[in-house]
Amino acid sequence: MKYFTTMGKASRRATDCVIIGVYNRGKLGAGASDIDTVSKRYIQDLIKSGDISSTPGRVTLLNKVPGVKARRVAVAGLGKAGSLDAIGFKKAVAVSVRSLLDSKSKQILNTLTLETVKDCGPYHLARHSVEAVGDALYRFDQMKSGRKKAPMPLNTVGHSIAKRGDAAKSELGAKHGDAIANGVALAKDLGNLPANVCTPDYLAKTAKKMASGNGKLTTRVLNEAEMKKLGMGSLLSVTAGAIEPGKMIIMQYKGAGSDKPVVLVGKGVTFDTGGISLKPGASMDEMKFDMCGAASVIGTMSAISSMKLNINLTIIVPAVENMPAGDATRPGDIVKSMSGQTIEVLNTDAEGRMILCDALTYARRFKPTALIDVATLTGACVVALGKHRCAIYSNNDNLQDEIFAAAKRSEDLGWPMPMGDQYTAQLKSNFADMANIGGPGGGSVTAACFLGKFTDGMNWAHLDIAGVAWKSGGQKGSTGRPVSLLSEFVLSRAGALP
Ligand code: BES
Ligand code: MN
Ligand code: ZN
Repeated sequence: MKYFTTMGKASRRATDCVIIGVYNRGKLGAGASDIDTVSKRYIQDLIKSGDISSTPGRVTLLNKVPGVKARRVAVAGLGKAGSLDAIGFKKAVAVSVRSLLDSKSKQILNTLTLETVKDCGPYHLARHSVEAVGDALYRFDQMKSGRKKAPMPLNTVGHSIAKRGDAAKSELGAKHGDAIANGVALAKDLGNLPANVCTPDYLAKTAKKMASGNGKLTTRVLNEAEMKKLGMGSLLSVTAGAIEPGKMIIMQYKGAGSDKPVVLVGKGVTFDTGGISLKPGASMDEMKFDMCGAASVIGTMSAISSMKLNINLTIIVPAVENMPAGDATRPGDIVKSMSGQTIEVLNTDAEGRMILCDALTYARRFKPTALIDVATLTGACVVALGKHRCAIYSNNDNLQDEIFAAAKRSEDLGWPMPMGDQYTAQLKSNFADMANIGGPGGGSVTAACFLGKFTDGMNWAHLDIAGVAWKSGGQKGSTGRPVSLLSEFVLSRAGALP
């Protein structure tokens, strides 16, 4: 995709489509105002006749508007004047592009970047715009047979800017947005692929392929024998019943010499049956998404390594299948983690923490400046925060604040959650150093506290993304979250934000 910025008038641009916006009560956005004037109140007339809606999420596609050079004009509803935020902005861009999917549009000019959007400068406006375009264009049809519809041939996206001084920021935002959108699409693909395709080995091969074209990027994969030598008894207890062998995938991007890296760890359970503590049948298919933490750190690695940032980034993906079998781990079994601590497996469905704890112990050798694990860890997190925000836990308030701020800027939202000794006490076992579950209350918190027992002395945070990683129902599919949040965090650490 190519990107440009322009200070030119919306009505003067010869392009396949111009995106403009209208607010409630007939208030026009900047691009709409220009087009309305040139077309002798064409837009106002259509608003009055009820043919253009200002409701957020609605878009009206107009063709051959009088006096306008563009072939099409997409008019997006922006809601109440003065209250447009980044969520509304992204939604307006995405629905506008979706309205064009059947057209042959190659180029669009987005004038919505001229609007006042809460907490957004020219950099983030362009980035949100490009990420929203990516969302709108994404589709997953690789598992469908038969002839596939040709995609919309979009190859150029322009952003309107108000002043010269905004050009460089807008262009940087578009460039970063493009890299992030590609990372998001990769994460969505990995999430959407079924578990009989997207196995631990498939994730490992994807990681190796990614590194083969990039001199600063390397991938290493540990097999079960190597993990056994390292003492990863906790991880191996999860994969015991599976025929698919477990893997530990390590990718290192070196953009800053010998600096200590940021390390991201992603839960890669390619299918979670629950194991011997078998899950109920309803919606069990959705447990193919239990590797969305892995997908998000791989997607983030794709984004960061293609931006060529001056930072060192390492990702670690423990990848396993959680299956019931004669040789599967039983409730009550006690296993020894790489840290030396022993764990009583009271529920084999609490498997995410069992693989993450060994990955977090392994991460110690990289002396991370920040260590963040990302996991579809608990159903309790979905109860607590729903599908809108991920849970942010940390053993360091500053790191928690830093992630919360990155989530806000990237519009990939999260919310800070508590930890503490009272919660950790719920993990007490009569037989081992700890149990792997903490009883009925605060399930997302006690899962975080379990991980906290393996991150002493490290600057660590945990994101429970069980709610945000995928959508259920008619829109079932991976969201690619939180690639945008993680990329924002790393961009900020790399000093690459304007
Ligand atoms: N992968 C699940 C968590 C999950 C459940 C994510 C539903 C999204 C939707 C995880 O491995 C799991 O099964 N967690 C258990 C933990 C319990 C046994 C303490 C859960 O949340 O029920
Ligand atoms: Mn589980
Ligand atoms: Zn799971």
